[in-house]
Amino acid sequence: MVGPSKNRRLGVLISGRGSNLQSIIDATETGRLDATIAVVIANKEDAGGLERARRVGVDTAVLKHTSYESREAYDGALINELRRRDVGLVCLAGFMRLLSVRFVEAFPNRIVNIHPSLLPAFPGLDGQGQAWTHGVKVAGATVHVVTPELDAGPIVLQATVPVYDTDTPEDLATRILMEEHRIYPEAIAIILGGGWRIEGRRFLRE
Ligand code: GRF
Repeated sequence: MVGPSKNRRLGVLISGRGSNLQSIIDATETGRLDATIAVVIANKEDAGGLERARRVGVDTAVLKHTSYESREAYDGALINELRRRDVGLVCLAGFMRLLSVRFVEAFPNRIVNIHPSLLPAFPGLDGQGQAWTHGVKVAGATVHVVTPELDAGPIVLQATVPVYDTDTPEDLATRILMEEHRIYPEAIAIILGGGWRIEGRRFLRE
C-alpha cells in the first residue's frame, strides 16, 4: 500500500465545463485547500474548464485522444505530461476516459475521482439520471481513490441529497453538483493531509 506523500502538486484532468475544477481553484485561492494546481489537462480542445484554468494563470495542456493509436499510447503521453510537472496527486474532474492499468499503476493511490452517485450504486455514465430513473429517495456524490476497475476504488468522502417527487433529472443533478463542489476539495485536502491508510477497500483516517 502506498500512503500519504508530501507532494501537493495537483494535475486535474477534464473533458468538459470544469465546474469541479473551479471548486478546486476556489479552494486553493481561499486557503481551504493547501495545494498548487500544476496543470489542467483536457482530452478536448473545447473543454470549457481550460478557460477557467487560463483565467487564473494555471498551466494547461490539450492531449486529444484521437491523435493516439491506442489507449496505452495515450495514457503514456498523459503520464509524461504529469510527471514532467512533478504532479503528486491526479484529480479526475469529469474526465470522460477509461484509464489503463498502466496509468493507474503510474500513480498508485495518487488518483482521485468525483462521481455523481452514492457508489457502489449507479457507476458509469449519468449517475444522477440512473438514480432518478431508479426512483431512489436519497442520492449523492462520492470521491474515491481510482483503481483499474471503473468507479470502484476506496471511498474517501460521500455526501447525500434528498430526491423530491417533483424533481426533474436536471434538478437532481444540480443538487448533487453543489455537494460535489463541497466535498471534492475537502477530500483532496484529506488525502494531501496524510494520516490515512487503505485496508482492503476501506479508506481509514487515523
Ligand atoms: C460531474 O458531475 C462529475 O461528478 C462527473 O462529471 C461531471 C463533471 O462536471 N464525473 P464538471 O466538468 O466538473 O462541471
